[in-house]
Amino acid sequence: MEESGDVQLLRAWARGHRAAGRRIGFVPTMGFLHEGHLRLVDEARRRADVVVMSIFVNPLQFAPTEDLARYPRDLPRDRALAAARGVDFLFVPDAAVMYPPGSATRVVPGEAASRWEGVVRPGHFTGVLTVVAKLFNLVGPDVACFGRKDIQQAALIRAMVRDLDWPIEVVVVPTVREADGLALSSRNVYLTSDERGQALGLSRALAAADAAWRAGERNASGLEAVVRDALRMYPGVTADYIAVCEPIRMAPAASAAAGTIVALAARVGSTRLIDNIVLGEEHG
Ligand code: PAJ
Repeated sequence: MEESGDVQLLRAWARGHRAAGRRIGFVPTMGFLHEGHLRLVDEARRRADVVVMSIFVNPLQFAPTEDLARYPRDLPRDRALAAARGVDFLFVPDAAVMYPPGSATRVVPGEAASRWEGVVRPGHFTGVLTVVAKLFNLVGPDVACFGRKDIQQAALIRAMVRDLDWPIEVVVVPTVREADGLALSSRNVYLTSDERGQALGLSRALAAADAAWRAGERNASGLEAVVRDALRMYPGVTADYIAVCEPIRMAPAASAAAGTIVALAARVGSTRLIDNIVLGEEHG
């Protein structure tokens, strides 16, 4: 595996593979890798000849009140995991490389960013789209893989690729979970053992909504109530929102069909977690 924070090196490497007719797969991350990130690498390897992973804790997508400074980092461990999983180029730029003084242009998302995460985290998706756009331009991937855990992010990236005419295939990979259902997240490391027990409330509440849907509940507010009721068993969980929405523009759905999303954001202690399910799909 090659590794660099140097833009020219990355570009030259990618140019070489492109000239040799190889397809480039790309997995952007903020590091502190877990099996969810690595599953994206597997998917990229299936769909491309060489795989680039980026690790960059993007300051632009964190509000001043958020966890940028304490966001978990472990480059030696990430390097070993990425290499073992078959990443060919690990791109690890510094903030000064990505945002040199004077860098001011932003990619502003459309309507789908105005809901859910976008309400609780104003400016967040502008930060995400701007960094992903820059990374796309640096890597020039044929295919880029994202996780369904961040379903609104994935929807906005799909929309950006379409709206800005990038010839990139965006692949969204199902959420990888712990055996008990908790969605893997770099932020899970913040949880105390009590909070870890409470955090299970997110996936349990979503599973309850799925069960209710399978039993015939089609009303969005009925499903929201099921999630809210299930969360009562987890007093350490404070919901930011419970969304029943369609998966493209994330618009609220009045009634739920197969493919409708139930998404949840909640705080557990000082940690903010998100999770979602696609109704009618198998999930663990
Ligand atoms: P990060 O949170 O590191 O996530 C990187 C990618 O891994 C995202 O596409 C995310 O959806 C996916 N992912 C995270 N947890 C997952 C899980 N349990 N199962 C499957 N996939 C999972 O998302 C970001 O970084 C950033 O916003 C980024 C896109 C890199 C831009 O800075």
